[in-house]
Amino acid sequence: MSDQAQSAAATARGLVLDGIFKGFGSVDVLKDINLTVEEGEFIVFVGPSGCGKSTLLRLIAGLEEVSEGAIFIGGRDVTDVDPAERGIAMVFQSYALYPHLSVADNMGFSLRMAGRPKTEIVAKVEAAAAKLHLTPLLDRRPAQLSGGQRQRVAIGRAIVRDPRIFLFDEPLSNLDAELRIEMRIEIAKLHRQLGNTMIYVTHDQTEAMTLADRIVVLRAGSIEQVGSPAAIYGDPDNLFVAGFIGTPKINLIPAVIDGGSLLCEGHRFALPGDLAVRHGNQPVKIGVRPDLLRTAIDGEPALEAEVDVVEYLGDAAFVHAQTAGGARVVRKAERSRLPQTGEKVRLAFDAAGVFLFDEAGRRLR
Ligand SMILES: Nc1ncnc2c1ncn2[C@@H]1O[C@H](COP(=O)(O)OP(=O)(O)O)[C@@H](O)[C@H]1O
Ligand SMILES: [Mg+2]
Repeated sequence: MSDQAQSAAATARGLVLDGIFKGFGSVDVLKDINLTVEEGEFIVFVGPSGCGKSTLLRLIAGLEEVSEGAIFIGGRDVTDVDPAERGIAMVFQSYALYPHLSVADNMGFSLRMAGRPKTEIVAKVEAAAAKLHLTPLLDRRPAQLSGGQRQRVAIGRAIVRDPRIFLFDEPLSNLDAELRIEMRIEIAKLHRQLGNTMIYVTHDQTEAMTLADRIVVLRAGSIEQVGSPAAIYGDPDNLFVAGFIGTPKINLIPAVIDGGSLLCEGHRFALPGDLAVRHGNQPVKIGVRPDLLRTAIDGEPALEAEVDVVEYLGDAAFVHAQTAGGARVVRKAERSRLPQTGEKVRLAFDAAGVFLFDEAGRRLR
């Protein structure tokens, strides 16, 4: 770390991850992670299973040791500091409550261990319970609670510690779909109320998009992109990020840049601006979001396709089709005009609305 970077990390009030590597045996699970989280930010780590999200969170918590690099919290180098001294509190997917303790005692446990006065513990537990709508449940045992209530207790246990940073590891994964949405909104409100820094791990892109101030997209132990939900969705750096965020997934259609236009399944499409000049002829993938793939107007260059599945959702429908060239595509259709299975359709897109990726998955535009 340069002297300049060192002093920047020492004055940052949030969290700084500086050149973090983590290996288990000979396997590098995290590779050169650099990230600055501002105080009060809601950061979401998202990425496929096994990409290193939990490991990164556990390194921040101090539950694992870094192989290389340094971690700063509130300007202090905590790389070798005990988890209890880092000013963090972690909420796990599994809740990890003590089954023989009441809700109140579960929530106050860490304060009791720290030898805090009883009146302080009671006050803090009651305040957290009120925020989480747990007041009527304080005398119950975990077994007498629903999954959502248990997860609230786990969050309450974190709140009473008044941590600098909350760490959440897939806290909603064990809940059913409806409850997940409810708790997601509660967590967003809680962040607004408390204002603490929160770092939230999920593989669920909807949680990432709806909760985050900034999303960190991880893949195989490296950061692929850091940005606001709008930037990650609307301005992805590469094919992986474009493919990971967005439901249904972005369409990726093979094509070539050829003599100033885009040649795709035998049709020529306009290329925006100076793209051909800048990049020359080469194979590419056209990335077009399902809501930007549309029915072609007569005479316009279009992809011929055959509809094979129509997913009707009420307010909209997703129309899945196979192009003549063999690409699978999906398009969002208005409910007023639903195509039939087996119907032939002509699909077009506007040059300005598509991404182009080179063979290595880098974004050309
Ligand atoms: N204690 C460990 N020993 C060895 N390998 C581990 C250990 N913990 C995690 N890993 C490996 O590190 C990789 C990342 O795991 P993890 O951080 O749990 O991923 P994620 O949370 O993104 O699903 C996985 O390949 C996992 O098998
Ligand atoms: Mg995990």
